[in-house]
Amino acid sequence: MIRFSVLGFKGGVGKSTIAFLLAKELARKYKVLLVDRDNVNTISNLFGIRDGLINALEEERPGSYMVTIGNLRVLNLTALFPRYLPSLERIVPEYKRVIGDADILITDNPPNLDEICELEFKAYRLATGEAHCNSVFVTTPGIALRLTLTHMNEVPKILRTWVPDLAYAKLTALVINMVKGEVGDIPVERKVIIPFKNDLFYSGLRIGTELVEIDQLVKYAEEAIENNNSGK
Ligand SMILES: Nc1ncnc2c1ncn2[C@@H]1O[C@H](COP(=O)(O)OP(=O)(O)OP(=O)(O)O)[C@@H](O)[C@H]1O
Ligand SMILES: [Mg+2]
Repeated sequence: MIRFSVLGFKGGVGKSTIAFLLAKELARKYKVLLVDRDNVNTISNLFGIRDGLINALEEERPGSYMVTIGNLRVLNLTALFPRYLPSLERIVPEYKRVIGDADILITDNPPNLDEICELEFKAYRLATGEAHCNSVFVTTPGIALRLTLTHMNEVPKILRTWVPDLAYAKLTALVINMVKGEVGDIPVERKVIIPFKNDLFYSGLRIGTELVEIDQLVKYAEEAIENNNSGK
């Protein structure tokens, strides 16, 4: 299987929107598990998920932290802030069960890679026996873009401190979201430009939201899937 991490160093740039739309599109062809790894719970709220896997483990009860719509499953890892985190030994069997036969796992992350991101990344390693990362960075133009270009190469280094035998950490694409006008030259090979959309901004994300520009990101993700399957 393959995993994609949707990342971005700033709040409100569209990480959850992009993670959701990418997952929805890939679910037309693949079995996708979309993991809400942000305590803000944008994606979980969209699907009406109130519970979290970590919360259920913490309270030692069965949980309802996942919904399934066709080939798309959505998992909420944490609802609000858990008081303490379960050990890796406790989370791994449950995570393995939840991942099941998914072809693709996509994580939607907070702006900072915190200890829950670390726990999830290590649990994924142990649950699947695999260790790699395909990053989709999301930014808006201006300062957020400069911040992203300066710091995105630090992420593989952080991941390697978590999982030292990481097979690879690649940039799938840089998404520059909410663009009004020109963005200028950006020294990144695979980028996706998404214009500012009034309806998305004022009405918010919905399950039915469509964005034609996501097709380019889906193409880059499918290239990553091919490379991953052929061991490139
Ligand atoms: N291209 C766009 N044009 C206009 N509005 C957008 C666009 N993309 C996302 N939005 C809106 O911007 C807001 C923030 O989006 P989103 O929640 O996806 O960002 P985020 O980076 O995940 O935020 P957070 O840091 O809180 O997790 C939402 O209201 C969303 O509907
Ligand atoms: Mg978000």
